[in-house]
Amino acid sequence: MNVIPKLFIAIDQNNINEAKKLIQMLPPEICGIKVGKELFTACGPEIIEWIQKKEFKVFLDLKYHDIPNTVKNACFVASKMGVSILNVHALGGKDMMLAAKEGVDKSTNNPYLIAVTLLTSMDSSNLKEIGFTSKINDQILKLSKSAIDSKLDGVVCSAQDIKNVKSMVPKDFLFVTPGIRLTSSSKDDQKRISTPSEAIEMGSSILVIGRPITEAKNPEAVLKKIMNEIS
Ligand code: C5P
Repeated sequence: MNVIPKLFIAIDQNNINEAKKLIQMLPPEICGIKVGKELFTACGPEIIEWIQKKEFKVFLDLKYHDIPNTVKNACFVASKMGVSILNVHALGGKDMMLAAKEGVDKSTNNPYLIAVTLLTSMDSSNLKEIGFTSKINDQILKLSKSAIDSKLDGVVCSAQDIKNVKSMVPKDFLFVTPGIRLTSSSKDDQKRISTPSEAIEMGSSILVIGRPITEAKNPEAVLKKIMNEIS
């Protein structure tokens, strides 16, 4: 399996020059780059190639959620791009996740395939709103179990969710946690947040951080502060 950094920076930008400027400020020996829907929609696969040429590992965060055949083929194509991590929504169900795994296994690149459980921007009232009657913890447990049964490599969840799931996962299972904030007063649209050190203490394997770094006056300084906090 590929070796990946503990920290991925979410470059949520649609201007290629701004994105490149930000990426060039970051050290590839310390962090990877997360390419999400905004950057990928604006810039396409070329941006991934450009980032990889700069020696960064790429997490392609497109959260596939579609019929199994479509997801299988999308995962195959994404794997061929040489990304280190890609993901699907666990809400797409086990058949879809098994198909995703099949797509990844068809390529020779072996990226980590992980499943988003519940977005860190959602809380129990959002869950109710979309018709789910389970408690948030139970829902995350169900979705994680389904990802484990589908032989996925990990889940995306909030740091607080890890303790509920940890006891039933294989040793090298990945817990990827967004919703990282340096202080609890700066949430943006995230609801289930944690600081970098809290996330590591709670068992996070990889932290995903966007705006606290990308919108900082001095992104390098914030990155350094975070690295000091977690190392
Ligand atoms: O700017 P911020 O640190 O909130 O960015 C978090 C990143 O992680 C965003 O790119 C978002 O799409 C992604 N993400 C998330 N919650 C998930 C899965 C991915 O916030 N459950």
